[in-house]
Amino acid sequence: NTPINEPLRGKYMKSFGYHSLMHRMPDVFTAMTDLLKAEQFNLGNKEEINDVVDKLELLLSEILNNKPLRKIDSTSTLSLMWNQLLEKKFDSDSIVTWFETEWLFTENYLYIRIKEICEKTKTLNNYDPFKELKFKAFNESETTMIAIAKFLILQFSKKELDNINLKTLFIQMLKICLWGNRFDLSLNIGKSKNINEDPLEAVVSLDKYILADHSDEIWNTLNVSNDKNPKIIDIILDNSAYELFTDMCLADFFITYGFAEVVVFHGKSIPWYVSDVTKPDFEHFLNCLVNECTSSALQQIGNRWNNYYKTGKFKIECEEFWTLPHCYSTMATEDSELYKKLACSQLLIFKGDLNYRKLIGDINWLPSTTFKSALCRFQPTAVVALRTLKCDCVCGLNCDYETKIDENDKDNNYRCSTNYWQVNGKYAVVHLSK
Ligand code: F6P
Ligand code: MG
Repeated sequence: NTPINEPLRGKYMKSFGYHSLMHRMPDVFTAMTDLLKAEQFNLGNKEEINDVVDKLELLLSEILNNKPLRKIDSTSTLSLMWNQLLEKKFDSDSIVTWFETEWLFTENYLYIRIKEICEKTKTLNNYDPFKELKFKAFNESETTMIAIAKFLILQFSKKELDNINLKTLFIQMLKICLWGNRFDLSLNIGKSKNINEDPLEAVVSLDKYILADHSDEIWNTLNVSNDKNPKIIDIILDNSAYELFTDMCLADFFITYGFAEVVVFHGKSIPWYVSDVTKPDFEHFLNCLVNECTSSALQQIGNRWNNYYKTGKFKIECEEFWTLPHCYSTMATEDSELYKKLACSQLLIFKGDLNYRKLIGDINWLPSTTFKSALCRFQPTAVVALRTLKCDCVCGLNCDYETKIDENDKDNNYRCSTNYWQVNGKYAVVHLSK
């Protein structure tokens, strides 16, 4: 297993990194190649598609056979940045292969390699191999989104909310946003789980799966006045479709009740980890709510958010930093501009598993390590993490976490592996560091 205080690597055979590279990657590749083959009928570029499929298959075999990493054959700004990092790696480590090198590095590297393959074609150079999966996930979550949209519209129609009701609504939106992270497509590729619980009831019933909960402290932080002007809150996005919907619900709460004048969403500049939000996804999502949904509640909320987008209350930025393999403790040196920009924010909300891994350096911390110390001084302003647990690393857990897990799972038969609760997306954390 991964030694304590060491970064995760694919070579540790009991780790989720090993399982991911060995067993999940083939599923991701199959999904991509199936979708590409289906595109033949739309794009009429059979040869090019076959060539891309072959190259993807070669890439998968490189992974499974633990081949050395190589530089990216492209002149895009992002690729050049990657190449500098790869050069540094080759200089400092004697073995740079898929399983030996830090899992965070290699898994990130995979997506720039996929981009490289598409970039070299005439018809697929801007192609997003996961687009159809993201569209499908949107359709599958429509019923849940309608329920939340109706609830929100009702709340917003109430003129004034007293402080107690406002806090209650905040906690509901925060938790809806947290559990939205369960629905990424990289874990259960192509088979998005059904969201069959009432989302507002789920907020209560799922509380027992939260192993560290700083919601109250986050509320208090929001209510401390400061002189930052304009008031900005940043959400570092994770996945498209339902999770993005929940992010916008929380963002709307901030705008409606004056906690922020602007919410800046940060997305990815290339297709990433299957379901992560790119700018085209963001715009497509806003468009779908208004033009493709038959529910009047979704259209209403969609019009409201499109209006925020047009008037600059919602912004999307896709900085390259998020698609490089950096841990966030290095942001101040690796991208000082971004660090300074984020320092002007009231609050940074990092969504999801991958952002969490980068926040805490993808280190196998003892679970009792505080979130603050695991951040290794990354503190441009108040930092919040909303994450469902999908890989081994975790920190900041309450001392009773094992009792809680035992109590929740006493009748379940999937407890065969010791770290099952760290990787199955059932448990979650809500952390704050300020
Ligand atoms: O743990 C499996 C994994 O693929 C990680 O590599 C990655 O951090 C995560 O799932 C993606 O999940 P999320 O969309 O929540 O970042
Ligand atoms: Mg993701």
